[in-house]
Amino acid sequence: MKPVPEDPVLRGTAAEQTRARPPADALPDYLARTYTWAYLNPRNLRLLDRMPVVNAILWGNANRLMQAAVAEFEPGQRVLQAACVYGDFSMRLARRLGDGGRLEVVDVAPVQVENLWRKAAGKCRLEVRVGDLAAEATLAGEPPFDGVCCFFLLHEVPAPERARIVHNLLGALRPGGRIVFVDYHQPASWNPLRPAMAAVFRWLEPYAPSLLRADITALSPLGAGFVWRRRSLFGGLYQIVVGERPG
Ligand SMILES: C[S@@+](CC[C@H](N)C(=O)[O-])C[C@H]1O[C@@H](n2cnc3c(N)ncnc32)[C@H](O)[C@@H]1O
Repeated sequence: MKPVPEDPVLRGTAAEQTRARPPADALPDYLARTYTWAYLNPRNLRLLDRMPVVNAILWGNANRLMQAAVAEFEPGQRVLQAACVYGDFSMRLARRLGDGGRLEVVDVAPVQVENLWRKAAGKCRLEVRVGDLAAEATLAGEPPFDGVCCFFLLHEVPAPERARIVHNLLGALRPGGRIVFVDYHQPASWNPLRPAMAAVFRWLEPYAPSLLRADITALSPLGAGFVWRRRSLFGGLYQIVVGERPG
C-alpha cells in the first residue's frame, strides 16, 4: 500500500486506486453472481450505503455491533479491515486508531474501494486498496498487523473461499495481535426472527446458512494456535468472535 503524498488525509490517490484495479473478470464468481445488486451496481450502492439502511438490515443493532468491534482495538495500532462495510464503520474504526494508528482496508471490488475512498476523504485517515482476501498473494509481504477486523464478510462468501479468507487473515496477525469477526449466527429456537431470517438467507444470502453451522475458530488450522472468546447477541442472531495470537 502506497503512502499518499497528494492527500494528507486519505492515502492513495484516485489515480493510484484506478491503476490498482484488477480487470473486471478478476471479481470472484460468487460476488458477481449473487451480490451485483448490493455491491457492484453503483446506483444501488449509493442507496444502500447509509446508516439508517444498515441499521434496518441489522434490526437496530448496527451501533451496538460496530461499537463492540471497534472497542477491541487500541489507539496507535495498525489494523486491517477485511472488505468495505456500508455506513460509517470504517470511519469509526479509523478514529479509534487515531493519528498514531493506521487502518488499511482491502476489498475485491474496485467500485467499493472508490466509494470508501470518497466517503472517508477529509473525515479520517485510512488506506484502501483492491485485493481478493481469499487469494494468498493479497496479504503476502504485508508487515504483520496488530489487529484484523472482519465485519459481516464471512456470511457472503462460499465455504471454500471463507476458509481461505479466515486462514489468510489469521496469518496476517503479529504474535500478540487480535482478530475480531462479527457476523450472523444461528438464532436461538425461541427467537421470533428465526423464520424471517431463514427466508432472507434463502432469498438473498445463499452462503449464510453454511456460516450459521460453522465454527469460525476452526475454519483454518491456524485457529488452533489462537486463544478465542465469543459471544452471541440479539437472541443468537449475531456472533462476535475474538482471537488472540499468543505473543
Ligand atoms: C463486508 S461484506 C458486507 C458488509 C455488510 N453487509 C455491509 O452492509 O456493508 C461486503 C464486501 O465484501 C467484499 N468482498 C466479498 N468477497 C471478497 C473477497 N474475497 N475479498 C475482498 N473483499 C470481498 C465485497 O466487494 C463487498 O464490498
